[in-house]
Amino acid sequence: METWQRTVDCGALRAEHVGQQVVLNGWAHSVRDHGDLVFIDLRDRTGLIQLRADAASGAEAVAAAGGVKPEFVISVAGEVRRRADGMENPKLDTGAVEVNIISLRVLNTCRQPLPFQLSDEAHMALVNEELRVKYRYLDLRRPSMYQTLKLRHDVVALMRRHLGAKGFLEIETPIFTKSTPEGARDYLVPYRLEPGFFYALPQSPQQYKQLLMVAGCERYFQIARCFRDEAQRADRQPEFTQLDVEMSFVTQEDVLRLTEDLTVELVETLSAKTLGSKPFTRLTYDEAMARYGSDKPDLRFGLELVNLGECLRETTFGVFRATLDAGGLVKALRYPGGASLSRKEIDTLGSMARDSGAKGLAYLQVDASADGAALSARGPVAKHLTADELAAVLAAAQAEPGDLVLFAADRPKVVAQVLGRMRTEIGARLKLADPNVLYFCWVTDFPLVEWNDDEARWDASHHPFTMPHPEDLGFLLDDPGRVRAQCYDIVCNGVEWASGSIRIHRRDIQAQVFGLLGIDEATQQERFAHMLEAFEFGAPPHGGIAPGIDRLIMLLTDTENIREVMAFPKLGGGSDPMMGAPSEVDAAQLAELGLRIVKE
Ligand code: AMO
Ligand code: AMP
Repeated sequence: METWQRTVDCGALRAEHVGQQVVLNGWAHSVRDHGDLVFIDLRDRTGLIQLRADAASGAEAVAAAGGVKPEFVISVAGEVRRRADGMENPKLDTGAVEVNIISLRVLNTCRQPLPFQLSDEAHMALVNEELRVKYRYLDLRRPSMYQTLKLRHDVVALMRRHLGAKGFLEIETPIFTKSTPEGARDYLVPYRLEPGFFYALPQSPQQYKQLLMVAGCERYFQIARCFRDEAQRADRQPEFTQLDVEMSFVTQEDVLRLTEDLTVELVETLSAKTLGSKPFTRLTYDEAMARYGSDKPDLRFGLELVNLGECLRETTFGVFRATLDAGGLVKALRYPGGASLSRKEIDTLGSMARDSGAKGLAYLQVDASADGAALSARGPVAKHLTADELAAVLAAAQAEPGDLVLFAADRPKVVAQVLGRMRTEIGARLKLADPNVLYFCWVTDFPLVEWNDDEARWDASHHPFTMPHPEDLGFLLDDPGRVRAQCYDIVCNGVEWASGSIRIHRRDIQAQVFGLLGIDEATQQERFAHMLEAFEFGAPPHGGIAPGIDRLIMLLTDTENIREVMAFPKLGGGSDPMMGAPSEVDAAQLAELGLRIVKE
């Protein structure tokens, strides 16, 4: 063994090692040079240990230590000592000890200046993200970043173990493929041998996993990279990773149970957070929309939407009357303590509501009445309601003195959108959600299709391979909006983390659903002939799900930005400043592919 090779990891040293001779390798995290006494915090992936060079080390070692700069790669031979009384550092796992340097060897230097100071987390919080991504290999040296990568590894390892034990096979599916619709644009790869032909990168392995079921694999999973050219958001990247799962001869209940068991094991093994409900709360789509105004409700707090149809049956207030007569809804939401908001603050809520599609935001400010027995209410709507109506509304909303009650009157979809948004806003303002809780819930029975106003056609709510509810098959032709799908999401703390469905495995139903989605016969043949044909050869009933791995890591680490949980994320617009991708290619490559660039 070479004398510079490590005998122990930096983060492993404890009081029990005192007196041992060790060799450590790593990076100089920080250097404090007092002339005849030098301290170096040495970092490797396991942690930090304080090194010390003083008279006992000898002049040569002190000089060598003094020459070390931050991020030099060094090897140190030394002796583990207990730190002097009062010099322990309880913030470090290794803080009871230090290593007295006997000899130090610089394995490589680091040219100054670093683009940012890795040893200073407060400084790192201020560093421009583009710079961090450009120098990602430095950014990832920070212990917090390494811990996130490690958690990702642990999550994936647990998934493999859990599913492997249940008889699932991990199978890789191609990256060069044909478009599979998940609602985003495709990334295309030109095909050299036939100019004008392209592969598409998979938006998910959806069709391959279904074909694996036709192939008789029965239980498949994959840690699958997916590619989607869609607008980026805080929880969306153009390439991301799913745990992709598919099973044959199962009902929806089987898929739910399997996924829930896996999710519970993941959280209980790898997180200190508690589960909001076990078994997971289940809501139908209709219930979620009615009670929370969202199909991604954060269930860590209550604040449910209240339907006032009954209380306001006889109302003469124009806004409410017109809405109810037109078959719309009037609903209310309580803002605890909101009566003390200023006019200006209430107006801010009003414009937020208008941004979500509301025509206005009626409200009541609730007070205790003079005799203390009943509630009274002020605000622009109060004078339009009778005393009985007011009392009924306040009771239904479970209002208390000091509350603000907000109203939305509109089509059900708009009411949900507006009050769902208000609920999220109020929850955030009042910090109603416990950050130590992961509240997973199932949302089931999504509608099969949604009407797309802009394009005047039906779109699949999930994707076109989702099986309608058997009881609703009869509505497919005449009333498609009414058809429920055998489709389910797992939502956690207001974030969608998994989505799946029981699939269509019969050619006639698949063709009917394609037809409903406006995919004509010729297009069906061109794009999906392989699926339709496969269903002719004995396709078993099957279904599956795909939880987003990046999203789970975000939930486990309280991270708002998906880039923080990926080793090499893309910035806005899909760029990678470290590699300099995307980039132009040379003329010869273009010619070979039969491509010509047309600049505007
Ligand atoms: P879906 O499109 O709903 O379903 O995706 C499943 C899960 O993948 C994650 N996800 C994303 N994560 C990061 N960035 C993105 N751009 C992104 N898009 C989706 C989410 C989401 O819940 N083939 C179906 C699954 C199935 O039916 O089995 C599918 O892909 O966590
Ligand atoms: P008006 O009758 O115009 O004075 O409106 C009375 C209150 O109802 C105002 O506070 C409006 O913002 C509010 N309002 C108007 N339209 C709606 C609606 N569709 N939903 C809820 N509130 C509304």
